[in-house]
Amino acid sequence: MPRTVYLNGEYLPESEAKVSIFDRGFLFADAIYEVTAVVDGKLLDNDGHVARLARSCGELEMKNPLTAEELVHIQKELVRLNDVKEGGIYLQVTRGSSGDRDFAYPENTEPTVVLFSQSRAVVDSPKAKKGIKVISTPDIRWRRRDIKTTSLLAACMAKQAAIAAGCDDVWLIEDGYVTEGGSSNAYIITQDNVIVTRPLSNDILHGITRASLLKVAKQENLVIEERLFTIEEAYAAKEAFISSASTFVWPVVAIDDKPIGSGSPGPIAMQIRETYIEFALAQAV
Ligand code: PDD
Repeated sequence: MPRTVYLNGEYLPESEAKVSIFDRGFLFADAIYEVTAVVDGKLLDNDGHVARLARSCGELEMKNPLTAEELVHIQKELVRLNDVKEGGIYLQVTRGSSGDRDFAYPENTEPTVVLFSQSRAVVDSPKAKKGIKVISTPDIRWRRRDIKTTSLLAACMAKQAAIAAGCDDVWLIEDGYVTEGGSSNAYIITQDNVIVTRPLSNDILHGITRASLLKVAKQENLVIEERLFTIEEAYAAKEAFISSASTFVWPVVAIDDKPIGSGSPGPIAMQIRETYIEFALAQAV
């Protein structure tokens, strides 16, 4: 059965949803996006994603086309229409089209709004059990990584390099320090069981999963340090992991071919994963 997707007020079969070639999302990546996880047909951590969408719109002086209530209604309709048990809802808003190509923001364009669902296992994912191998690579992205734009070519290039090297993903490095994963936030656990992750700034995306996960970790009395860490410190860590809406928590078992800890998923990362999923499911809508 073809997917039903949402485009500018309409629910359509995916083959019928079309966007103009002059759309600024297409021409300039003048667009922002969000990914919300779905488990048991419910949206996880969605308030955070809706709030970050509004923030990204604000930073780019882009019209936020829908209220939070309208957005959630569309997300839930797509879950229902496509019978999504587990997976995610992708949401993208572009500045729309002025009917030609022009760098400056045109006045009075109507935003393009696209949402579609993706069905896949997120709780029982093989990579959550096995862990992932990452390579480190220079972070060549722009300086406003706090804005969740669809300008993702640097991430695509980096992830492709990881696959070519026989690995799963990347950790991005700037001035010797880890910024984040290719599409996730990055963490290490030191030999003293301290969870270390980079503090919020324009250098990283302010992960919604990160925020919930840190809350959960504090409740579990785990010690957290939000500070920079080098790739060498990561090599010597007891455990390492990533977080995002599409992975929740995935252990990192090797970085640049160096095994982390025992070289298999660490117990603290696995515990955080379980506790996070429990916490997020309890509040899912
Ligand atoms: N990516 N950092 C980057 C660069 C990301 O692209 C993402 C998410 C995160 C984690 O954010 P959150 O916990 O809010 O998902 C951090 C999404 C999942 C993606 O691009 O598919």
